[in-house]
Amino acid sequence: MSWLAKIFGKRSRESERSTRPSRTTTRKSVATQTVQINACPPNSLGGVLASCPSSLRHNSAYDLSKPPRLNGEILKHLRSKIHEIPPMPEIWHKIQQILEQPDASAGELGAVIAQDPILTAQILKVCNSSAYSVPGSSEISNIPLAIARLGLDETSNVIFKSLAPELGQSEKMRQQVRYIWMHCQSISSLTRLLAESCQKLERHDASLIGMLHDIGKLVILNLETDEKLAQLKTAIDSGTDALQAEYEQLGYTHIDAGVILALHWQLPKKVQHFISYHHHTGTLPVSAIPKELQHAMMALNLAHLIFDHFAKDASTMASELVWSGHCCGFARVNESFITDELQLPIESAAFYRQLEGEVSRIKISFPDLFEATE
Ligand SMILES: [Fe+2]
Ligand SMILES: [Fe+2]
Repeated sequence: MSWLAKIFGKRSRESERSTRPSRTTTRKSVATQTVQINACPPNSLGGVLASCPSSLRHNSAYDLSKPPRLNGEILKHLRSKIHEIPPMPEIWHKIQQILEQPDASAGELGAVIAQDPILTAQILKVCNSSAYSVPGSSEISNIPLAIARLGLDETSNVIFKSLAPELGQSEKMRQQVRYIWMHCQSISSLTRLLAESCQKLERHDASLIGMLHDIGKLVILNLETDEKLAQLKTAIDSGTDALQAEYEQLGYTHIDAGVILALHWQLPKKVQHFISYHHHTGTLPVSAIPKELQHAMMALNLAHLIFDHFAKDASTMASELVWSGHCCGFARVNESFITDELQLPIESAAFYRQLEGEVSRIKISFPDLFEATE
């Protein structure tokens, strides 16, 4: 159990005493004990959610419960183009096998990383960056210590990003690809923090879904012409729901593209499932998501809401992107799911400070995401 989980285990147990029913509580008393988000202090997770737009469900013409069939020609073209993207190198699959083990260790992971000098340099660079270095401590030059500082999952994200083939044909597109990676790494950190706090979701799964949920957007940026991307941006900027705009302009969505890329890169099957359902929480009730994915999808949704809350001063760059800042419709999630299922301490100021601290670290890691708008 990590130090974070220990602290939160203790704090959330304190919070649970006031928010959660005991095992013997009847269904009737559960309703009376559920904390109302609108009654939570502003500096709490409940306060963050209370400040979200009041519409609980985002309206979309694109029906995720019955997605339209892809035209055969478009599907064939999409598959053949995706197969031109290089596969993920073997070393990434080796690293995933290690991380899938419940007793995965920094030493074992370090031994694999040490075989690759570029990866080694990248891990050391990130761990000694201002986002991770500890004031007064000396520079780390040894991989097991670097992994211990970053944590296994953050190390895995750095590795994934370093090994993934470079996508984006023009310099302008590569900028947008960079922005999507920064978004995914930020959401991954927050989803992982939620997983550590609720202990209802594997931390490694939380990290993976955060990192990979939007990889289909990278495919779109890589495959489509500047003209097509400009049309897509115009449609999204004019208020069309992003998935609907993608389907109308390209004939497929970033969900379709993400699933095909995950198959091509031989990512774990659960990653394909995560990608398939990652927008369901925006428009559909949680019951529309398979039971085994519900905690992950809700945590991912919540991570987006938390990120949007703390990123009110988000980048001017967002306005130049195809998918500008807040276009992807993540709904304010069902509050009883957060308290009763995820069991997050929504009234806790300490938990809020933890989220705030993680966002501060993200701001240091990715300042481009937060350039103040003038
Ligand atoms: Fe998405
Ligand atoms: Fe996202």
